Amino acid sequence: MSDIAFSGSPRVDAADKVKGAAIFGADRCPKNMLHAALAVSSIVKGRVEAIDVDAARAQKGVRDVLTHETIGELNKVGFLLGGGPAAQSVQPMLSSNIAYRGQPIALVIAETLEAAVEAASLITARYTAEPFTSTIDGPGATVMQQADTPLPQELFGDTIAGDALKAWETAVTKVDATYHSPPQHQNPMELIATVAQWDGNQLTIYEGTQNSSAVRNGVASILGIDPSTVTVVSPYVGGGFGQKNSLQMQTALVAAAARKAGAPVKLVVPRAQLFHDATFRPASVHRVRLGADSDEKVVAALYDVDSQTSRHDLFPADYTDAAARLHGIPNFKGLQRLVQTDVQTPGYMRAPYEHFASFAMESAMDEMAYILKRDPVAFRIAHDTNVDPVTGLPLSSRHLAECLRRGADLFAWSRRTFEPRSMIAENGDLQGLGVAVGCYKAATAAAIARLTLKADGRVLVSVGVHEMGQGVRTALAAVISEILKVPAQAVDAVIGDTRGSPQHLTAGSWGTATAVPAAAAAAQKMLEELRALSAEKGVSGSPAQVLKALGRDELSVDAEHLAPGQPPQMLDALKSGNVAAFGPIYKGFVSFSYIAHFVEVRVEPSTMRVRVPRIVSVADCGRVVSPRTAESQVRGGVVWGIGAALREASEIDTRYGGFLNSDMAEYLIPVNADIGEIEVSFVNEPDPLLNEAGIKGLGEVVMTGVAPAIANAIFHATGKRLRDLPIRLEHLL
Ligand code: MOS
Repeated sequence: MSDIAFSGSPRVDAADKVKGAAIFGADRCPKNMLHAALAVSSIVKGRVEAIDVDAARAQKGVRDVLTHETIGELNKVGFLLGGGPAAQSVQPMLSSNIAYRGQPIALVIAETLEAAVEAASLITARYTAEPFTSTIDGPGATVMQQADTPLPQELFGDTIAGDALKAWETAVTKVDATYHSPPQHQNPMELIATVAQWDGNQLTIYEGTQNSSAVRNGVASILGIDPSTVTVVSPYVGGGFGQKNSLQMQTALVAAAARKAGAPVKLVVPRAQLFHDATFRPASVHRVRLGADSDEKVVAALYDVDSQTSRHDLFPADYTDAAARLHGIPNFKGLQRLVQTDVQTPGYMRAPYEHFASFAMESAMDEMAYILKRDPVAFRIAHDTNVDPVTGLPLSSRHLAECLRRGADLFAWSRRTFEPRSMIAENGDLQGLGVAVGCYKAATAAAIARLTLKADGRVLVSVGVHEMGQGVRTALAAVISEILKVPAQAVDAVIGDTRGSPQHLTAGSWGTATAVPAAAAAAQKMLEELRALSAEKGVSGSPAQVLKALGRDELSVDAEHLAPGQPPQMLDALKSGNVAAFGPIYKGFVSFSYIAHFVEVRVEPSTMRVRVPRIVSVADCGRVVSPRTAESQVRGGVVWGIGAALREASEIDTRYGGFLNSDMAEYLIPVNADIGEIEVSFVNEPDPLLNEAGIKGLGEVVMTGVAPAIANAIFHATGKRLRDLPIRLEHLL
């Protein structure tokens, strides 16, 4: 592996993280804390008839065992996409119903973790089981057109531009191919965990989350208490990737248990249980038909998607919106169907739709380039556009052609020979060079930033955003330090904490474009106020010196920030803890981030083992605020893409339902030895329309396009076009 050359100022929280001073949810150990463990359902669907908890209760150190019969009165809350706070509408232990394998049926509270785990293993239950289906091609799966569901059609309706059917019928050259995505699990390093502590009627929840407000409102609703009595503290999240974007199943149970026990309670949900009790990337099937005219231009795309959901919630499909934005294809028709199966409700996993939409579309574009004998890079550049293909609106910025040109240059694409199997490495490996692009919407949420300058020179910023490892503390510090001329290390951020500014869901790659412009506006306001005060009183110096000369202990300012054209009522949604995101379609323009990936693979010809020694990724995310953390995010996304292309799949045993490889030994992800050189470059052109800071978004676009670039490189190396992920040895032999 080559040296990693980071640029930009260091992470402001790097030292804390290395020293263990950054406190994550499960790091908390309040005095007298008890430990909890879950017993879970061994059937997929049906009813619990009886639970035997006697052996568990008899275990030394066990304080209590709670089931749906003894946990007390709890209220049901709704699914995120039905306006509720929860990851799904089924909350365990509210009734005897079982909707998926691994659903919790009992919670043990004990003095030690060991006692809790041991006792939970002694719990047995008698069930009435019903037939179930756990795969989208299973016999009991129910298929529905998404357009016929109650899901909001302005967001999840069919994606139509021009007359794709007619253009397809008259096309001269055609590709018709079907691609399969397996279910996958996010597996953030930090497990989902809750520490709940009551102080009188005040409840504090310590938990890693992307959405402190949803946790607060959700727990309050389930327990039937006022949200103002609930505090959620989540200063650091050990990876979210969408799995921590809403109220988890355990939080209110732990809070109820702590209330009943009269002591703080901690539950860390083990990895194997998380495969069933947290969200996952649903399985999906994508048929792509591309038609090119006699000028070798793709003029028609028909894109049909089947995507898995649960029996109890409609987790929407939204693959077509991104697929239509990759290239300037004038006639596009995207139709999506949902397939109900007996699983927990799937959810958002990093580039939830865009990753596989780019895999399907960019594999098909590569197939078309080969039929037409066109260079894959030049073929993509020939389909560039400045106009949004769906709405006809101008794009706020699109530098994808620059990403392709610069990437080709950095990667030395010109050494590539066109024919598959035409490049052989010195050691006899089949060498393949592939390219693909990706895009991701540039959305923004409403935000309120509060900035407080203290007499000691420190600056406290609070704004609605969560630090999940992406480096938003560093981005906030960078912009505030630049405006106020204070050291970045002097900036403290109160984020992911309901005691600070309203905490909005951090997802959809809108974190930086949401929090940084709001913080910048507050810093600008602070600067103006300091200037006015110093002129008035005739004092001068650094912000802290001015404050001191004025005899003030601190100075606070607030700034509100909305996306362009975003209705001000969104600030009310923000304040009440609801989702207040906006975009990518704004008044008069459309905004997306883009990326191009260039991949080299080496395939060992006897075992067909695939290696990825080198990737060059060039991103257009608007202005780069924090180069070091941005580069790191690209590398992380590329590693995710390698995992998606070559490793990750959640396996299902259709006899028993649930997910089989539910641990990190059997759910394969890339390890260090699987990762070669990743070279990152940014176009770094500020977006002129989206916000004053010129920021689009980065966290998810980085993963889009990696998997098809790898599959395209494997085609170039071997001549085999593989349309199902992950690609493994057996598919190449
Ligand atoms: Mo992200 S998958 O939108 O949390």
